[in-house]
Amino acid sequence: MSNKIIFSGVQPSGEIHLGNYLGAITQFVKNQDSYSSIFSIVDLHAITLPQDPDLLLQRSREVLAIFLASGLSHTKNIIFKQSEVPEHTQLSWILSCTARIGWLNRMTQFKDKAGKNRENASVGLYTYPILMAADILLYKATHVPVGDDQKQHLELARDIAHKFNTDYKSNFFILPEPLINKSSMRIMSLRDGSKKMSKSDISDYSRVLMTDSNDEIHKKIKKAKTDSMKMPDSLEEAESRLEINNLLNIYCACRNQDKKTTIASYASKEISVFKKDLAESIISVVEPISMETNKLLDDHNYLDKVLSEGALNARKISRKNLSELYALIGMIKR
Ligand code: TYM
Repeated sequence: MSNKIIFSGVQPSGEIHLGNYLGAITQFVKNQDSYSSIFSIVDLHAITLPQDPDLLLQRSREVLAIFLASGLSHTKNIIFKQSEVPEHTQLSWILSCTARIGWLNRMTQFKDKAGKNRENASVGLYTYPILMAADILLYKATHVPVGDDQKQHLELARDIAHKFNTDYKSNFFILPEPLINKSSMRIMSLRDGSKKMSKSDISDYSRVLMTDSNDEIHKKIKKAKTDSMKMPDSLEEAESRLEINNLLNIYCACRNQDKKTTIASYASKEISVFKKDLAESIISVVEPISMETNKLLDDHNYLDKVLSEGALNARKISRKNLSELYALIGMIKR
């Protein structure tokens, strides 16, 4: 294995959207040749909010199918389902003895998800960032490709690793670095440019799914919220107009094109002209992935086999690392 190790996870808590793809999955694919990479479909994270059991199983397969259809290799990388590797929850307990309550209280995602009724939120939702730290630290990952929304959780993982190393006078854990794709680190909702595109938004029109048909994509982009002005003339102007800025970011990410060049080519044109080209650009990314995903989803046995092979490989690493850790903390003989 290369000594640069990537770990990242995606929750099967809803359908995968363009934000997940542009913010995270494209980076998984791009880095797979230069890092040893481990990717997990984190179903244990998904149950921090209620899930339908049949749907959860199906969505886990869907995430795998989208990974493979996006060009992620299951032979070059390890791809597995979190619940098939029990060392994640074992390490999570150990790390929960290191993490401080004050650190968890600062997590903004918990505050957003728990809302006003905090007392009624599950304990799992609250301690979720510790399980996420365990996911990463279990494999001694050096780099974690994620969208911007996970940055705070990653900082917590680094704090936990540092405190653990200090408490046990060791350098057992590596402090992981985030890998964030600047141009697509935060894809926003198509209905509200101040909110991120999310699996849990109640409006289907807020996100483009990686399995949407071409018609659906055209419809969603046509309906996407914008102001009533013409296309911006400069980067400064674009950045002051939330919704249009988001659409420009999506366009640039889909076409791998520089933003200044894009702004120059649409300057002062009607937004409807840009929207048509944007829909086509999204389709050029989504259509091949969606077609391949649907093909892969016809063969559950194949997908389940890929996941169980991945879990076997993940366990080879996780068991070794966990037993070294058990020796370090006095659970087994050194
Ligand atoms: P999740 O499942 O919400 O999202 C998966 C990945 O997609 C990124 N992402 C976005 N990027 C850009 N724009 C958006 N609108 C957008 N929405 C989501 C996320 O940042 C993420 O990279 N806690 C994680 C899953 C996880 C994990 C881990 C990640 C569990 N253990 C260990 C990294 C390492 C989550 O809920 O991601």
